Amino acid sequence: MSMLEVNNINTFYGKSHIIQGLSLSVEEGEAVALLGRNGVGKTTTIRSIIGFTPPRSGDILFKGKQIARRKPESISRMGMGLVPQGRRVFPNLTVKENLTVASRGSAKGGWDLERVYKYFPRLKEREKNLGSQLSGGEQMMLAIGRGLMINPELLLLDEPSDGLAPMVLHDIADIVVQLQKQGLSILLVEQNVKMALKIASRAYVLNKGQVAWAGAAEELRNNEELQHQLLVVSA
Ligand SMILES: Nc1ncnc2c1ncn2[C@@H]1O[C@H](COP(=O)(O)OP(=O)(O)O)[C@@H](O)[C@H]1O
Ligand SMILES: [Mg+2]
Repeated sequence: MSMLEVNNINTFYGKSHIIQGLSLSVEEGEAVALLGRNGVGKTTTIRSIIGFTPPRSGDILFKGKQIARRKPESISRMGMGLVPQGRRVFPNLTVKENLTVASRGSAKGGWDLERVYKYFPRLKEREKNLGSQLSGGEQMMLAIGRGLMINPELLLLDEPSDGLAPMVLHDIADIVVQLQKQGLSILLVEQNVKMALKIASRAYVLNKGQVAWAGAAEELRNNEELQHQLLVVSA
């Protein structure tokens, strides 16, 4: 059984048919990259999966259960965490408050405040600071910490590299790799193709709401011509 199986979904904003018959899967413990130029539907795919913008048709199975018509709270409670594009930490809440409001009550052996702090000592140091007082990299750690507080089995990350300094990028990539090594399944949306293909074992490239390419990350990593063709905006 796959951790996540998206089967032929169609998602709309009003009359705009954005996601057009998209299928993808994430196996247990796997890190999968979801790539594509700006505006091809990566965030909309994430929104479809977590239930913010449910698909009008198609199936989404999470741990074998149909979730395509469930509410986001219920999907999240089943063990799906989200690190949204733009990080979205609460600027007027402290680090600690940002983390505790994201908690769904900790399960045994799961993620709680203590474990997040152990993982991100920097957040412990900044515990009393407001979200708005953090650097971009610290905000990213906080956003990941918030995603972990629901104690996920699958973590969706929407462009974690967005707006981060190159030095911080490296740290964030390491964090994602460590989380996967601890058994978390990961769906990673990225504009930073190089970073994503280092982390993921498989990749999907979207174009106009459809899967334009799918295969081993290594294959795409070693084929710059293909990367260019699929991902670079032509003039
Ligand atoms: N709330 C919305 N209402 C209408 N159209 C939207 C909305 N959000 C995104 N879109 C459109 O849907 C398409 C896909 O957007 P998005 O999923 O955000 O792309 P990506 O994350 O790949 O950059 C784009 O054409 C975008 O303009
Ligand atoms: Mg996006």
